[in-house]
Amino acid sequence: MVTSEAAPFAKTGGLADVLGALPQALVQRGHEVMVVLPAYGNANLKGAERFYNELPVWMTGGYYQCALDRIERNGVRYVFVNCPPLFGRHGLYGDMWGDFGDNPVRFAVLSRAAIEIAQRVFLPDILHCHDWQASLAPVYLKTEYLGNPALRHIRSVLTIHNLGYQGQFNAGVLNDLGINIPAVFHINGLEYFGDVNLLKGGIEYSDYITTVSPKYALEIQTPEYGFGLDPLLRSKASILAGILNGVDYGEWSPEADGYLPANYSAKDLSGKRVCKKALLEEYGLDTSDLDRPLAGIVSRFAYQKGLDLVAECIQGIADLGMQMVVLGSGDAALERAFGGIARAKPDQFGYRGEYNNRLSHLIEAGSDMFLMPSRYEPCGLNQIYSLRYGTVPIVRATGGLDDTIQHETGFKFWGATSHELYGCIAHAKHIYENEKDWWETMMTAGMSKDFSWDASAADYSNLYQRLMATA
Ligand code: ADP
Ligand code: GLC
Repeated sequence: MVTSEAAPFAKTGGLADVLGALPQALVQRGHEVMVVLPAYGNANLKGAERFYNELPVWMTGGYYQCALDRIERNGVRYVFVNCPPLFGRHGLYGDMWGDFGDNPVRFAVLSRAAIEIAQRVFLPDILHCHDWQASLAPVYLKTEYLGNPALRHIRSVLTIHNLGYQGQFNAGVLNDLGINIPAVFHINGLEYFGDVNLLKGGIEYSDYITTVSPKYALEIQTPEYGFGLDPLLRSKASILAGILNGVDYGEWSPEADGYLPANYSAKDLSGKRVCKKALLEEYGLDTSDLDRPLAGIVSRFAYQKGLDLVAECIQGIADLGMQMVVLGSGDAALERAFGGIARAKPDQFGYRGEYNNRLSHLIEAGSDMFLMPSRYEPCGLNQIYSLRYGTVPIVRATGGLDDTIQHETGFKFWGATSHELYGCIAHAKHIYENEKDWWETMMTAGMSKDFSWDASAADYSNLYQRLMATA
């Protein structure tokens, strides 16, 4: 597998959770899995061991000398491409001044290094690439490495975790990527309206394409969700499928969660109240009425997540008398909006603009409901964590949110507007306060759902076998 993130080493979002858990689930099914990712300057690489000193990765006009470090975790070999001039920085994709200008080269080196590793260290049957950052790997495999008989059996899979990020750059970047430009820069290759689009390249050159939920696999074939690639994705419909992400219940279970002040289960929910109190205290909110509904949000602050809709109807939420705790950072305007909301009603609303894993666990446990009003959501993990923690999700019916939340386990709304969101929240609050039995049935129905990785790993495994049969 080739990826730009994997938990617990380097993470900005759900991609890392997937690469931290799916490989292990595949190992348990008998596969051998190596995950290749960059050795970022701020990655958590404790215990890494250097096992390969000089791996030259050719770009145009010269090569980047890389070393390889490895950490074995739960039977999975994580291999870190160590190239300080490209990766030895604080930040995965950028810093306070924005995205790194050399991202095309950085991730081209990652992608090409993966194929060099296939030649020299670990020869796989399947090259499974994730998102635009790894999308050049199938492109190199089918062009620059086409003449290499040792690699001819390899089948490539691209998983799209988020079509909103495509790695689109000025065509000039191709001059640096060590690739025969006329061979790839055309309408059936990397070219996209005169630019270079790396994800498009991955879609064109991979043998199979997956996304992270069945509903999203359909949505991305429509103009509304296709980000301009829907015609191409429709043309690939016969080699495109959605496989729902799982969650790692070893990390996310209220029975055993080490970040919580008290543990609990569907049989004994009393610990959840302890968590709620601790959460309110952590945010400095009013703790005098623990029966008052508390909504939680943990999210990247990006347009995708629809959090501006929450801000738009905040007066309505305030008038409902609910409390709300928010954890997230990203878009500066949204950070300011939620900062302002918390300052205006410090007993009722709280905001922390940081990345905080412990607090994200406490919010899942201590909240009564969890808000995910996403404009689009390829899978979404927090709503699945919420189910297990008895925290009833309120979600927009899109992508993986629609696939994982049913009326017995949560609340859904359809239009991406603040008034539909508000209506859904008001409805949930009414049930919470007036239909206690119904609410508790929803909680326990959610807690009993099983979204463990095994089923998804079985689907990936079947896909790999089918592709290998064509080799
Ligand atoms: P996405 O990958 O689009 O951000 P997901 O729901 O798939 O959405 O995954 C988000 C992951 O990132 C979850 O594990 C969530 O807990 C975590 N996360 C997001 N923001 C924060 C934050 N501010 N602090 C801690 N964890 C966060
Ligand atoms: C992306 C998506 C999210 C998904 C995650 C893992 O970041 O935005 O919906 O859960 O990838 O696949």
